[in-house]
Amino acid sequence: MSQKRKVAILISGRGSNMKSLIQAAKNQDYPAEIIGVFSNRADAGGLEYAANEGIQTGVISHKDFDSRESFCEALDSLLEEWGTELICLAGYMRIHSDAFAEKWTGKMLNIHPSLLPSFPGLHVQQQAIDAGVKISGATVHEVIPELDAGPPVLQAAVPVLDSDDADSLAARILKVEHKIYPLALKKFIEQSANDDADAAEQESLIWPQ
Ligand code: GRF
Repeated sequence: MSQKRKVAILISGRGSNMKSLIQAAKNQDYPAEIIGVFSNRADAGGLEYAANEGIQTGVISHKDFDSRESFCEALDSLLEEWGTELICLAGYMRIHSDAFAEKWTGKMLNIHPSLLPSFPGLHVQQQAIDAGVKISGATVHEVIPELDAGPPVLQAAVPVLDSDDADSLAARILKVEHKIYPLALKKFIEQSANDDADAAEQESLIWPQ
């Protein structure tokens, strides 16, 4: 792919999925470049890693705003300033305003530590253990206004062992998260490029031009 897509990553914490995306994007053939890392928390561990990688970082605290809408507007302005084309949520713990989610629908991915549509929301690994499932995993999905409900892009499964607690299951799932997020972003970008080409071809068939 000649033109790399400009991707911003949004985090709220340690950012291990962010790291796997940053590392993947170093590959010359990878179809995305990471142009910025944003956090709603100044103490997010991933910010320092991104800065050390020479990636611009931005912090806006949601606590400085009196509404979800105004916070998301400030975030949106920053992302536009960066020239963002696609957003990857990676442990980003804020719910978007509907306006923000609608604007970025089709351009925003998230990673979730279960096989959606099973176990959306929080305390996901505990939900899986409580349900007694024998397989869980991770899902990279498109983000739509409804939480954890957008179409999956890629999933990977892991076993749930009888001896697991939420932490041991989370660690097993996290390993596959790091593998599938870069693959899913690549797949998503290539798929969108194919869709654009198909649309252009269809338009060229419309008569009269
Ligand atoms: C991951 O388990 C991800 O699936 C979930 O939050 C966690 C973030 O971990 N959304 P990290 O910050 O990427 O290490």
